Amino acid sequence: MTDQYQAFSKSPIGKFVIKNLGLPSPIELDRFESATPVIKGAVLLGAAPNSILSGAIAQVLSNVHANSYAGNNAELQQVAAQSGLNLSAFNEGDKESKFKAVVFDASGIESSEQLNELYKFFNPIARQIQVSGRVIVIGLTPESAKTVKQAIAQRALEGFVKSVGKEFKKGIAADLVYVDAGAEQNLESTLRFLLSPRSAYVSGQVIRVSQAKVLEVDWTKPLAGKTALVTGASRGIGEAIAHVLARDGAHVICLDVPPQQADLDRVASSIGGSTLALDITAPDAGAEIKAVAANHGGLDIIVHNAGITRDKTLANMKPEMWDLVININLSAAERINDYLLNNQGINENGRIVCVSSISGIAGNLGQTNYAASKAGVIGLVKFTAPILEQGITINAVAPGFIETQMTAAIPFAIREAGRRMNSMSQGGLPVDVAETIALFASTGSSGLNGNVVRVCGQSLLGA
Ligand SMILES: NC(=O)c1ccc[n+]([C@@H]2O[C@H](COP(=O)([O-])OP(=O)(O)OC[C@H]3O[C@@H](n4cnc5c(N)ncnc54)[C@H](O)[C@@H]3O)[C@@H](O)[C@H]2O)c1
Repeated sequence: MTDQYQAFSKSPIGKFVIKNLGLPSPIELDRFESATPVIKGAVLLGAAPNSILSGAIAQVLSNVHANSYAGNNAELQQVAAQSGLNLSAFNEGDKESKFKAVVFDASGIESSEQLNELYKFFNPIARQIQVSGRVIVIGLTPESAKTVKQAIAQRALEGFVKSVGKEFKKGIAADLVYVDAGAEQNLESTLRFLLSPRSAYVSGQVIRVSQAKVLEVDWTKPLAGKTALVTGASRGIGEAIAHVLARDGAHVICLDVPPQQADLDRVASSIGGSTLALDITAPDAGAEIKAVAANHGGLDIIVHNAGITRDKTLANMKPEMWDLVININLSAAERINDYLLNNQGINENGRIVCVSSISGIAGNLGQTNYAASKAGVIGLVKFTAPILEQGITINAVAPGFIETQMTAAIPFAIREAGRRMNSMSQGGLPVDVAETIALFASTGSSGLNGNVVRVCGQSLLGA
C-alpha cells in the first residue's frame, strides 16, 4: 500500500511544512536492482590497531570492486594490499568526500579504554555518509574473546552501532557483525548483503558469523540449481520471497492453502516455479513437501513464512483463536522441520529460514497468542541451530512494520505510529524481508546459523 505521508514529504509544500514543524522526513531508500554493482559509491575502511579481520574485509571489498579509501593507517594499507585491495588515500580534513559505506574493523579493541578508537575514526566523518548509506562495524564474538576485558569491550560495540543507527538519519543503516574466532572466511555473504541496497531496512542489528565450511558460490546467482519451498507464497511477504529466491536462481515451490490456488498459480507462473496447495497444519504436510521437492532434486531451502493473526486481549480471546495461531505460526513449522530432518527431507547444506516478528520480541497488546508463537519461532531457531548436521542451517527474520495487506488493516493512528517509530521514519517493503531471507538462504551463508535478524528499520518496539 502507498505511504501518503512519504509522497507528501517530497512535494514542495510538504518539504516546507515538514521542515517548519520538525516532522520526520522519510528518505526514499535505495533498493537492489539487477545488473548493478554491490555498492555504488565510495567505501571508507578503518581499523583499530592490531585488528585481525581487515584482511578478510579487504578481500570482500576487492571482490566487489568497491572504490575504497582509508585514512593514514599504514598497518591497514599493508593488509589491504596483501588482499589485492587498492586503498585510495583519504585526508581526514577533507570534508568534501562523501561515502556510501563506512566499514570499521573493531576486532583489535581489547579493553574499554580502547573504545575511543571508534570515536577517533567516526567523529571526523560522521557527517560525510551519503543518503541510504551504511555504517558497518565488525568485531569479535564476545563469547569467544580471550579475556573478560576484551569481551566487555566487544560487547560495547552494540550500543555504539545502535546509537549511530538512530543518530545519522538520511536512511543510513548501521549494523554490527560479530565474527567467531577462525570464521573470517565466512564473512563474505554478510558483508556483501550489508554493503548492498538489499539491506535497506535492516538497521541496528547484530549478525553473528560462525566458522563453517566455505562453499563455492556464484554471487550473481547464489541459489542456482537449488530448490526452495516458501509457505504462504500466494501474496504479501511470501510472494516477495518467492520472487527474490527465483531471481537468485532457485526453483521455487510456492505453497499456500487450497482456496489461494488462483493466486498461487499467478505467482508460480511469473517466476517459472511450481505450486503446492496444502494446509501446513495437515498431519502429513512434511511428507507432502518432501514428495513434491523430490521431483526437483530434493529440498535445499524451506522458508516458513505462512502466518496469521487473531488479535484479542487475553480476557476476550476464544480458545480456538489461541490454538489456531500457535498451530499455524509455530507448531506446524516445528512438525515439518522434524519430519524433514528425521527423514532426509533436506539436502546437505540445506537452509531453513523462519519468519518471526518484532511482536515476538517486544510483545504487543492484543497479541498474546501471536507474540507467543513468534517468540517460539525464535526459540525454534535458537535451540535447533546447535543440533543440525550436514551443513544445514536455521535462521529467522523478524519483520517490523511492513507495508502489506496485514498492516493496511490496522487502524490509521496505530498504523501511522508503527510506520514512523523507527530510524527510517517509514514502513519496510515485503522485498526487504525477502532480501534478508535470501541472505540466510544463500549457499554462501554456511557460517550463519542461529541468527534472528530484525527487518524493522530499527523500530523502537522491543529495541
Ligand atoms: N506484514 C507485516 O508487517 C508483518 C510483520 C511481522 C511479521 N510478519 C509475518 O510475515 C509472514 C507473512 O505475513 P504477510 O503480511 O505477508 O501476511 P499475509 O496474510 O498477506 O500472507 C500470509 C499467507 O499465509 C497463508 N497461510 C495462512 N495459513 C496457512 C496455512 N495453514 N497453510 C498454508 N498457508 C497458510 C495465507 O493464505 C497467506 O497467503 C507471517 O508469518 C507474518 O506473521 C508480517
